[in-house]
Amino acid sequence: TTPLRLGIAGLGTVGAGVLKIVQSRANLLAQRGGRPVVVTAVSARSRGKDRGVDLSGYAWEDDPVALARRDDVDVLVELMGGSDGPAKAATEAALAAGKDVVTANKAMLAIHGQTLAETAEAAGRVIRFEAAVAGGIPVVKALTEGLAGNQIARIMGVMNGTCNYILTRMERDGLPYETVFEEAQALGYLEADPTLDVGGIDAGHKLSLLTAIAFGTRVDFDAVELEGIERISIVDIRHAADMGFRIKLLGVAQMTGRGLEQRMSPCLVPAQSPLGQLEGATNMVVLEGDAVGQIVLRGAGAGEGPTASAVMSDVIDIARGYRVATFGQPAAGLESARPARATVA
Ligand code: NDP
Ligand code: HSE
Repeated sequence: TTPLRLGIAGLGTVGAGVLKIVQSRANLLAQRGGRPVVVTAVSARSRGKDRGVDLSGYAWEDDPVALARRDDVDVLVELMGGSDGPAKAATEAALAAGKDVVTANKAMLAIHGQTLAETAEAAGRVIRFEAAVAGGIPVVKALTEGLAGNQIARIMGVMNGTCNYILTRMERDGLPYETVFEEAQALGYLEADPTLDVGGIDAGHKLSLLTAIAFGTRVDFDAVELEGIERISIVDIRHAADMGFRIKLLGVAQMTGRGLEQRMSPCLVPAQSPLGQLEGATNMVVLEGDAVGQIVLRGAGAGEGPTASAVMSDVIDIARGYRVATFGQPAAGLESARPARATVA
């Protein structure tokens, strides 16, 4: 059987995690994907860096765009990050060269995902991004596959592992923000630009992607009302606890009389509720469908293994020949749904 050949651009936390899975369980991947899954070429900024994985069997490209165009690459696995720059250039190059793309890059997708998805559709290619939302939780597949027969009424969730880690460590251990921030960085949870995490922007990116999938609308990150956790103090956390609540950076997307609302902000949640019991870098997504009722998904939202797990699920889907677009042209009539920020002065 013809192997599926991956070109991996980005060998940081997630890229190294993906290589570890590919290298350690070839038989399992071949069985699950119906054909061997191999890496042929890789790219990162610094060639000599020790990444804890053996790169000797792969071709090296300094330029991720060149990687995306290689004849021995069927799928670009984009794990560099950044909404523009090399990530977007390599993704566009891959699609133009007739390759599929797997990415964990929510920043790029929240801003350019609509256009990229339409480009992919026109080219008969797919962009898959399970890892971009809630790390290891298969929430994209839950919405596109498991709940495909439902009208989604509401999505709620804690979708940024860093923020939940910081808030819970501050609360449980009384540690100052700065100490906990450094811990999160050492654990590989933070974005290259950490203001994306603590400013709520990363979680907002994720919410905008889930909203587009769940409600069949265009990806509209500008419509997300955003507030981060930078101004939350230990005193706020303790006051909330005294009243039986915890502070969580919570995202909500729902259709209201004013249109489609998307909001990501620190919220009080009852300490005994499932959301209130989330610790560390764990994420939780609550999906409400008209037929199924409420579904609660919980799991690791960041880090090497969980994120690589999600990336590999997309790779295996492509190996199997699964070619359904996750989003593209919105269904007729849904394009005009407007968010709160656009409708509330
Ligand atoms: P890292 O910062 O750990 O790794 C980024 C990698 O990209 C590095 O190997 C870097 O090279 C490479 N890179 C950066 N710029 C270039 C360039 N111009 N050309 C070639 N290579 C480049 O990031 P993560 O692994 O943490 O994240 C990767 C992606 O996954 C991001 O989109 C992130 O948002 C997303 N993600 C991350 C999660 C996590 O828990 N970390 C979870 C879910 C999604 P070098 O190593 O040489 O500097
Ligand atoms: N920085 C992100 C987080 C990584 O902390 O949730 C996972 O998307």
